[in-house]
Amino acid sequence: MIELAYKKLLKPIFFKMDPEKVHDRMTRTGILLGKTSIGRAIMHGMFYYSHPSLKNTVAGITFDNPIGLAAGFDKNAQLYNILPEIGFGFAELGSITGEPCLGNPKPRLFRLPQEKSILVNYGLYNQGAQKIAHKHAHTKFKIPIGFSVAKTNDPSLSVEQGVQDYRKAYLHMHPLGAYTTINVSCPNTSDGITYQNPQKLALLLDALAKEKHLKPVFLKIKSDFTNAELAEIVDIAEKHPWVTGFIISNLRTNREGLKTSKTQIDQLSTKGALSGLPLQDQSNRAISFVSKRTNKIIIGCGGIFTGKDAYEKIKSGASLLQLITALIYEGPTVISKINRELVDLMQRDGYGRISEVIADARD
Ligand SMILES: Cc1cc2nc3c(=O)[nH]c(=O)nc-3n(C[C@H](O)[C@H](O)[C@H](O)COP(=O)(O)O)c2cc1C
Repeated sequence: MIELAYKKLLKPIFFKMDPEKVHDRMTRTGILLGKTSIGRAIMHGMFYYSHPSLKNTVAGITFDNPIGLAAGFDKNAQLYNILPEIGFGFAELGSITGEPCLGNPKPRLFRLPQEKSILVNYGLYNQGAQKIAHKHAHTKFKIPIGFSVAKTNDPSLSVEQGVQDYRKAYLHMHPLGAYTTINVSCPNTSDGITYQNPQKLALLLDALAKEKHLKPVFLKIKSDFTNAELAEIVDIAEKHPWVTGFIISNLRTNREGLKTSKTQIDQLSTKGALSGLPLQDQSNRAISFVSKRTNKIIIGCGGIFTGKDAYEKIKSGASLLQLITALIYEGPTVISKINRELVDLMQRDGYGRISEVIADARD
């Protein structure tokens, strides 16, 4: 009923509007609803679902269910009161950079409905680590919250200055929340530089290794990599026991091989990278490869729309899952729908707990 209302009434209106304007309005509505106990109770009643078999402890953190919000939806960490009520088991906020960042020029978000994808060229718009950390110095979060840190989108920064910028964001954000993610894979920086390059990654991790690591730390990477490239990244991270695991993956940079031609996508914007369904297979492949190469924990992300998609990522080696695009295309009921379907699939296969599926996959 609520799903139908979103798809038949709200979505057609939203999809006629500029995507960033819709996102800003949804954020304002979410902040407002999260402020009052009545708002939270209504959202909880409409969207929340839990099942004991989904509860699990990963990296020492207990999650009521494995479905988390991926980084990029709540860039300034404002929706922490409402996200638990719509059923997320955890949420990653940010990415947050050392300095405040306006992001790339607008328009910087485009829908590709035929692909169930968003073309994203935000460029790390956020208020900066100092302001966001100050706001959350005493916040008690209802679900595990991860803070994602990234390098300020400023092409004048040298590689060394970039490392210091990451460090600044890390020092502000790591003491807060349940875990920290180092986003080394934002494809939308104005200089096109990411810290996934082996030399830069080694430099960054060696620099951060000197800091106190109080919580689990994840590295977020993209999945348009060959196995050899993935192996190199994993082997660099293996030298750092404080790196708990990987988030696989960030947006897809390759525009080939889709129903929509590269030329059509280029007409929307030559800049930006793709979320959603076009990412699904390549992220599953990367998860599967990485899970065989390391014992580090994997958070699977990219093109999860159904319980089957979620189950496939867990079977590929993921212990937790994240999504954004499904929320935009299907509405908030998608979280409980995925969780319900996941419970059904586990029961079909004779699993009593999600930890058993994960253990079997990583055997
Ligand atoms: C609008 C938008 C903004 C994003 N911004 C970020 C970001 O700031 N940091 C980050 O690590 N990933 C960011 N991402 C990537 C997502 O976290 C996720 O890795 C990707 O969208 C794949 O998941 P999905 O297919 O469920 O959307 C963004 C994605 C979208 C759609």
